[in-house]
Amino acid sequence: MNLIFLGPPGAGKGTQAKITSKTYGILHISTGDIFRKAVADRTELGKQVKEIMERGDLVPDNLTISLVKERLTEDDVKQGYILDGFPRTVLQAEKLAEFQRIDAVINFRLSKEEIIRRLSGRRICSGCGAIYHITDYPPEVPGICDKCGEKLYHREDDKVEAVEKRLEVYNKQTEPLISFYRKRNLLYDIDSSINPENSEQQIMKILDEINK
Ligand code: AP5
Repeated sequence: MNLIFLGPPGAGKGTQAKITSKTYGILHISTGDIFRKAVADRTELGKQVKEIMERGDLVPDNLTISLVKERLTEDDVKQGYILDGFPRTVLQAEKLAEFQRIDAVINFRLSKEEIIRRLSGRRICSGCGAIYHITDYPPEVPGICDKCGEKLYHREDDKVEAVEKRLEVYNKQTEPLISFYRKRNLLYDIDSSINPENSEQQIMKILDEINK
């Protein structure tokens, strides 16, 4: 099963991708995580994308497409995968369709006010990548991951100015993908406003229906 998780920043794609990948035994591929690791490791790619990401812009299509294309040639993708955060432009979606079959696109829906609230409170583990929220899903010890004991951090692009920019970029460049995939009968909407358990139930219902 090859899936795409589509939606605005902070809509819950990463949280659900971690759960769905465990439940269905499929890979979770996040372009944002790949880029953040490159920045943290100070690789050549990291140097190219650091500033772009911090201000909330998109990494250029040619770079992103070739990175995903290469990742999808590895053996572990045969078990199926979730693309979290890719495609993000119509060109990325068109190129992906040239070399991959996609079974479903899950479209996460959430209001702008709630996106800003969630992202300003989000904290991420620097060790295992677990996702928290300072008031909704706080760790037992503030600033420390319950799962691995490493420090939590606030993403540079989760500051309000960068979030506003990411939302503007989403509306202009990524939202057109909703009609792109709806036309191809691949799009399934979920309401991401309730809680993670509820989103998980909605996704399982869709995937179980597809797998019948
Ligand atoms: P990326 O890392 O993909 O960021 P994003 O799409 O903006 O998504 P986020 O990670 O911010 O949010 P999410 O939807 O995963 O939410 P989460 O589950 O954490 O991309 C970052 C950057 O990389 C881009 O800006 C760009 O520069 C570059 N990039 C990446 N891919 C690219 C591409 N294809 N092309 C070009 N550039 C690219 O949840 C958020 C918070 O809400 C958490 O605190 C969580 O605990 C809480 N929460 C989650 N679900 C719920 C729920 N149902 N109810 C209540 N709270 C919830």
